[in-house]
Amino acid sequence: TTLPRVTYSNIRADFSGVHALLDRLIPEARDGALGKDWPNRIAGRADEGGALYEARSPIDDRLLLGRFRAADAAAVDRAVSAARAAARDWGALPWRERVAAVRAFAAELDRRKYDLAVACLLEVGKSRMEAVGEAEEAVDLARYYCDQMEENAGFERPLARAFEAEETSDRLRPVGVFAVIAPFNFPLALSVNMMSAALVAGNTVVYKPSPAAGLTGALLVAAAEAAGLPEGVVALLCGGAETGRALTAHPGIDGFAFTGSHAVGMGLLRQVAAGRFNRPVIVEMGGKNPTYVTPSADLDAATEGVLRSAFGLQGQKCSAGSKVYVHDDVRAAFLDKLLAATARVTVGDPAERDVFMGPVINQAALDRFQAAAAEARREGVILTGGERLTGGLYDHGCYVQPTIVADLPRDHRLNKEELFLPVLSVLGYTDLGEAIADGNAVDFGLTAGCYARDEADLALFLDRAEAGALYANRASGATTGAWPGIQSFCGWKGSGTTGKGGLGPYYVQQFMREQSRTVW
Ligand code: ALA
Repeated sequence: TTLPRVTYSNIRADFSGVHALLDRLIPEARDGALGKDWPNRIAGRADEGGALYEARSPIDDRLLLGRFRAADAAAVDRAVSAARAAARDWGALPWRERVAAVRAFAAELDRRKYDLAVACLLEVGKSRMEAVGEAEEAVDLARYYCDQMEENAGFERPLARAFEAEETSDRLRPVGVFAVIAPFNFPLALSVNMMSAALVAGNTVVYKPSPAAGLTGALLVAAAEAAGLPEGVVALLCGGAETGRALTAHPGIDGFAFTGSHAVGMGLLRQVAAGRFNRPVIVEMGGKNPTYVTPSADLDAATEGVLRSAFGLQGQKCSAGSKVYVHDDVRAAFLDKLLAATARVTVGDPAERDVFMGPVINQAALDRFQAAAAEARREGVILTGGERLTGGLYDHGCYVQPTIVADLPRDHRLNKEELFLPVLSVLGYTDLGEAIADGNAVDFGLTAGCYARDEADLALFLDRAEAGALYANRASGATTGAWPGIQSFCGWKGSGTTGKGGLGPYYVQQFMREQSRTVW
């Protein structure tokens, strides 16, 4: 295709060609791809185990996305057995052959990327640009881990000799069967992130998409099958918490890759730690990501970056910038700009070209929004927003206003917990070191942003902020928008188990275990 790539670093390109294509694909998908039955997939075949459930679009509850099966314990067992059987041959392949197979998967995703993006838009209410960007990111991720294998020569290398007659080599070897459990918010990119790393490292995968993202999950597995990945290498199990429990409790799982909430991630860690022996658990959880706007900031860049990070995808990103510390000297000027920009944010059907915010994912998210707004009203000041939108399409989904809150006590729950909502808290400061210390004083450490031309302020931020991904002076996103091979996406503290993130050079190794071989 000759259309421009939609990436975070390319947000000012002319996307009229992409829009024209989406103008055609979105109605086609509404009439064609939606409303079907999507059985689970085990060893390349449909599996009908488990109760049927219907999923509807958060954009419009009259749109049936499809019918899925909540895999029961017997279906989980079939999937794990098939993955174990396939793991022997897949893990024994020379690593270059696995790289070729995963590159074929990436190529298939690339061919289908606009259809995947449209499914993602309809399924999770993502804006056009967020959806296409995510599909591009998924393709790049699969390719990136192939590049990593090649750059590291398959993670096989000779070590020193202790004796003339002996030879020692070191290699990273597959672990076996990985359970891959993905979130709803980046159903393409984060699923492919975990799946492709696990696969290229030589593991087979039992993949459970979020119950809110079964359609994109099924389309990803269809792409993997069409790409010719060997039978049994990827299984699809849809379903919710019960399927998740059956999967994580299965003794045939050798490793776990989970992206999702802090509570579920920590629960998985505890569960695995209570087992007879240790197994790898790669858990990527949430964030409470601060941005610092200093007196020397470019306030236009800061406004755009903070707005994109707070309200892009309705604030439902682990990387969302949900609090902004603004120096008292620029507070009034910054807030004027931010409030004016927020007033221009469009909320509606994300299938439309110029809609920036779609609905939040479900009623539970709406309930949390309304509870947060009530607390903010009581204990702080709502500068803008705070309400659910009603009338017309708004009555068929959970649409809320982008919301900015000020004057909450620093240690208020809304300033400490991840909300996963389009709610931004504004905090004043006079001393940057003290503000950064407060920004660090949360259970998370995923991303942080800063706007400063002053070199001392910039250096202080880069030195002190406790987060795996730091961004300075970025208009395309204060704390969001990491890209494969460009920013590692590594959670510190309660944001991740290992501090070695997806999208970066130390991720794929976590899906392998080391072995040295000494031969006389
Ligand atoms: N790549 C996505 C972001 O950084 C997850 O927001």
